[in-house]
Amino acid sequence: MSSSSGYDRPGWHADVTAAVNPPAASILRAETLPSYGGDTQWSNTVAAYAGLSEPVRELADKLRAVHRFAPGAGSKPTDDYLRRVSERPLLTEHPVVRVHPETGERALYVNPGFTSHLVGVSPHESRRLLELFYEELVRPEYTVRFRWEPGSVAFWDNRSTVHLAPRDLTTDEDRRLYRVTLVGDVPVGPDERPSVALEGEPFEAL
Ligand SMILES: [Fe+2]
Repeated sequence: MSSSSGYDRPGWHADVTAAVNPPAASILRAETLPSYGGDTQWSNTVAAYAGLSEPVRELADKLRAVHRFAPGAGSKPTDDYLRRVSERPLLTEHPVVRVHPETGERALYVNPGFTSHLVGVSPHESRRLLELFYEELVRPEYTVRFRWEPGSVAFWDNRSTVHLAPRDLTTDEDRRLYRVTLVGDVPVGPDERPSVALEGEPFEAL
């Protein structure tokens, strides 16, 4: 198991946190859906931060983490896809706790999909602390599950949520949703230090 496989919570992520300015929000509209399966779940990362005990929140406030873009654990990427990922690496150091730019709330800003490791601690400490954070991140009481219908629209804030892509889809039935992603700003931690791009370019609106 690699350090970025998301331990036992694969699939939970906020969109493209490997970028220095991850999308602020995402909008999905459903058009064609399978007869069953394909629900999307979200978890509230502000609630997850608040759910940590005060000493652990204070520790998290001081930590930074590297996020990187990599093919998902368990996926079978093509050689062409792997080549494109290695030609355009995306690697960013973010605060582990992000201050929401509009509400001022603190949110736990790590996710199993993109977070590689914590900075300035041992690999062992990084694994254990991330596991602790992930466990809190997706506690059922912070989550909501959405059942899509044709025409459903979901609009979510990537700065204060993580979501879980469906894992119960079959290839037998078509599932088509359309996405709009809103450009985001550079995250800032409780100490007002912004995220730092280690490799790759910021996203820009087209
Ligand atoms: Fe996503």
